[in-house]
Amino acid sequence: MNKIKDETWIWWKHGVIYHIYPRSFQDSDGDGIGDIRGIIRRLAYLKELGIDGIWISPMYRSPMVDFGYDVSDYREIDPVFGTMGDFRELLATAHGMGIRVILDMILNHTSSLHPWFIESASSAENPKRNWYIWKDGAAGRPPNNWNSAYGGNAWKLDEKTGQYYLHSFFEQQPDLNWRDPELPGVFFEEMKFWLDMGVDGFRLDVINLIAKDKKFRSNPLVFGIPALQRHVYTRNRKWSVTLVTRIRELLDLYDERVSIAEIYAPPPGDVKTVARYLAKGTNGVHLAFDFSLIFSSWNAHSYFRNITKWYESLPGGGWPCNVLSNHDLLRSIDRFPWHRDREAKAKVAATLLLTMKGTPFIYYGEEIGMHNGSIRRKNIRDPLGKRYWPLFSGRDKARTPMQWNPGLNGGFTGGKPWLPLNRDTVHRNVRQQEGEASSLLNHYRNVIRVRRIHSSLQSGAWIPALNGKNGILAYYRVNERERLLVILNFTGRQKILTLPEHTGGKVLSSTHRGYEEFNYFQNVKIEAFEASVWLVIE
Ligand code: BGC
Repeated sequence: MNKIKDETWIWWKHGVIYHIYPRSFQDSDGDGIGDIRGIIRRLAYLKELGIDGIWISPMYRSPMVDFGYDVSDYREIDPVFGTMGDFRELLATAHGMGIRVILDMILNHTSSLHPWFIESASSAENPKRNWYIWKDGAAGRPPNNWNSAYGGNAWKLDEKTGQYYLHSFFEQQPDLNWRDPELPGVFFEEMKFWLDMGVDGFRLDVINLIAKDKKFRSNPLVFGIPALQRHVYTRNRKWSVTLVTRIRELLDLYDERVSIAEIYAPPPGDVKTVARYLAKGTNGVHLAFDFSLIFSSWNAHSYFRNITKWYESLPGGGWPCNVLSNHDLLRSIDRFPWHRDREAKAKVAATLLLTMKGTPFIYYGEEIGMHNGSIRRKNIRDPLGKRYWPLFSGRDKARTPMQWNPGLNGGFTGGKPWLPLNRDTVHRNVRQQEGEASSLLNHYRNVIRVRRIHSSLQSGAWIPALNGKNGILAYYRVNERERLLVILNFTGRQKILTLPEHTGGKVLSSTHRGYEEFNYFQNVKIEAFEASVWLVIE
């Protein structure tokens, strides 16, 4: 494949990244849970898709209360996923194929079974006591009103020492104290362990929670309701940007590594807050997720507004990254409204993700339009689902096993899958879509192929052409080599379009057109939910 890679090609900026939830991607040993050898087996599929890097949700040793986001040893692979030998093989094989490997790094908290916490909890005088956040209660009550993101007060009383410890998530996930003078250095050694091995970077889990108010002031309540608080003293503190800068400095000791911050800023899509974490020169992280695409309503103008706001908020030198879904949210295809035309909408969204400015992240299964699983109560695995059912059934829906083929368990496992396969696996799977020219999977492959050949899609300027008010979002991607035009019809109606400039074009990829070339972009019929990429001929 002809790939334009000039000297300025930077894999994490210009490539395409794929997010793997390892429990659900591919099982190799029949225990019903995905593993590293399964990922190795599927690298060829990812290569064919055109992927440059994978981000794998945590695989460290863990009691799995939060399925790996509760780590008990940062230098070990959990046996459920395989061995360190398997991981080294994954790294070497992926690198040999030109695929980078990004790990998830959880700095805000460990598992309560991490030896650091066990020591810290053992007595108030333990040398590691201050590695976690311990406080006395106030008149028999928790030290302040801080809430856990997963419900209830964030402080847990430890009967033995009579003090409370902070847990911003489950009580089995105690928060680390980054103000301790020793802890950051110790933690950075854990990160270096993987960087020295050749890991290409980290996705930084809930990194905006890492710095808490020094004075432990209570958060202001919304309408006086304790469960509804503005996290002014617990999230996005100025000091978290300083800490992130230290992480960046660590990564910059190595070549071509990336840091990607997960920052949910209230209200969803508060891009100004997200942008504060992004690199100005060497400060801040390389990338920070903008979740505003996820929270955009299905409307071309709403996408346009969110995208422009995001781009305008970026500091000089800051680079956007874009995502449609992840392991904590609903599947993107099910967020598009009205059950009609979802497949067509998924193609429009995919084209946007892959041609707008910024690094695209694809959540596993999105490329075949995987739906939310329908999980019965007895099958719920996510502790959030168990806690809040039936008000909220948890995050399992977006974590069901990858649908590879129409055979037993969709080709995911020969055993009993840890979550049931989606019912539509027989007719929605990789094998079936590979054989169908107009499938969503082939659409992803085509657009990624065009993106690889046309450097303007990787690094060119983004120049809006139509702001979506008439249902069509259109923009140019431009560099010194070429000018591309992307036209996305978000509506189910045909539109007639004339561009103000007298330019011609030829189709590079389209949901509705074969190869076409014409002299003037005048009175062109844009079909319902058409997503086309044109090379502009001046
Ligand atoms: C991860 C979640 C996890 C939480 C606590 C998040 O942002 O994506 O899956 O439960 O951090 O670690």
